[in-house]
Amino acid sequence: MTDQSRRTFLKQAALGTAAVLAFPPSRVLGANDRVRVGIIGVGDEGTDLLEQAKSIHNVELVAVADVYSRRRDEAKSKVSGMQTFDDYRRLLDMKDIDGVIVASPLHVHARHFVDTLAAGKDLYAEKTMTWSIPEAEKCLAAANTSDRVVQIGLQYQSSGALIDTKRWIKDGWLGKITHVESWMSRNTPHGKGQWVRPVPSDCTAQNVDWSAFLNGRPDRPFDGFKLINWRLFWEFAGGNCAENMVHQIAWIMTALDLPLPSAAYMSGGIFSEKDGREVPDTIAVTLDFPKDIVVTWQSTFSNEHYGLGDRILGSDGTVEYHFDEAAQYWPERVNRSDGEDTKGQTRNEDHMRNWIECIRSRKTPNAPAEIGYRSAIAVHMANLSYKNKRRMTFEDAKAIVPEY
Ligand SMILES: NC(=O)c1ccc[n+]([C@@H]2O[C@H](COP(=O)([O-])OP(=O)(O)OC[C@H]3O[C@@H](n4cnc5c(N)ncnc54)[C@H](O)[C@@H]3O)[C@@H](O)[C@H]2O)c1
Repeated sequence: MTDQSRRTFLKQAALGTAAVLAFPPSRVLGANDRVRVGIIGVGDEGTDLLEQAKSIHNVELVAVADVYSRRRDEAKSKVSGMQTFDDYRRLLDMKDIDGVIVASPLHVHARHFVDTLAAGKDLYAEKTMTWSIPEAEKCLAAANTSDRVVQIGLQYQSSGALIDTKRWIKDGWLGKITHVESWMSRNTPHGKGQWVRPVPSDCTAQNVDWSAFLNGRPDRPFDGFKLINWRLFWEFAGGNCAENMVHQIAWIMTALDLPLPSAAYMSGGIFSEKDGREVPDTIAVTLDFPKDIVVTWQSTFSNEHYGLGDRILGSDGTVEYHFDEAAQYWPERVNRSDGEDTKGQTRNEDHMRNWIECIRSRKTPNAPAEIGYRSAIAVHMANLSYKNKRRMTFEDAKAIVPEY
């Protein structure tokens, strides 16, 4: 980035979302046409998504943008001839890109989301959709006023288990559902905090556009640890609710057709490894929903014995789901004596492929902005409850001005 463009960028950053000229998509794709894809933020997940997209027939990886030179070089070594940029707006300027994958850290999602749509590109945006409630409102509005295809990286929305569970609920197999319990647990090696990654020796101020990473957060000298380990700090991240609860709550909300929670309560703390992180590693969330339903989610980084799962508890039956497995149904013998234990049969759909196919067909993908929004709001309500140490309604949560 030149000094001039950096100054322009910082000026625009100070004004809010960088101004990107809206222009119509360059072409209309046929069912078998080549889809040209760019990626913004090509770290761990961006690299994974690059490989996924690359493996799909007739998808061409055209360009990546990342603030860190190492990431650009690594991506380039995987796809010969691919263009690389430090400034994501140069990627969005490219006329020959149909779709953009956004896999930047949480605090930059909204900027990349809105600007990608404004540039006329279809969008695959990693979860959680946004860092804050106002950003979630802004992104949903941008998606609703755009004709672009938006897929959120909530890949369990493409699970066969979701289709089976929705059908069982619709057919009355569960009766009245009052409670969903969900949990996600991991163990952490002694002395090595969950999520902490080593800082490569070339992660220096010379090789990183630090201001672009900060994205409006208070300026300060370059800090390689925060760049690499942004997940540990509230100003860049949303803790384990944003990293993992969001997948489960999106799945549960879709299965039960739930609106926004009416209230959230979250307790917990930094109990596993007190390594300077700000986000809690031990969490209990209670989400109240209209229609007499309470959803609980608990998470620890100190014990993984029970892994991860969701249990939907109804008067007439139970569904249990573990990611990447089939859903399982058991009837309640008293209220549904003729019911049978049933294992779901519907196969998972590939989430990335679903997005690419929708770019061609212009259909709505499995995880549109609307479920990105609802799940993001649940995450933000829970985190705001934790930070403010009180039960949080949506109205209360909306009234709180996000702080860095
Ligand atoms: N769907 C899933 O299962 C899943 C799994 C893992 C991560 N994720 C999500 O993917 C996102 C990225 O996570 P990660 O683990 O890959 O993080 P990461 O730190 O490994 O990668 C982020 C990349 O973005 C770059 N970056 C930072 N600021 C940027 C900016 N302003 N413009 C362009 N690039 C910028 C960084 O240099 C880095 O290469 C997060 O939102 C995370 O929640 C989703």
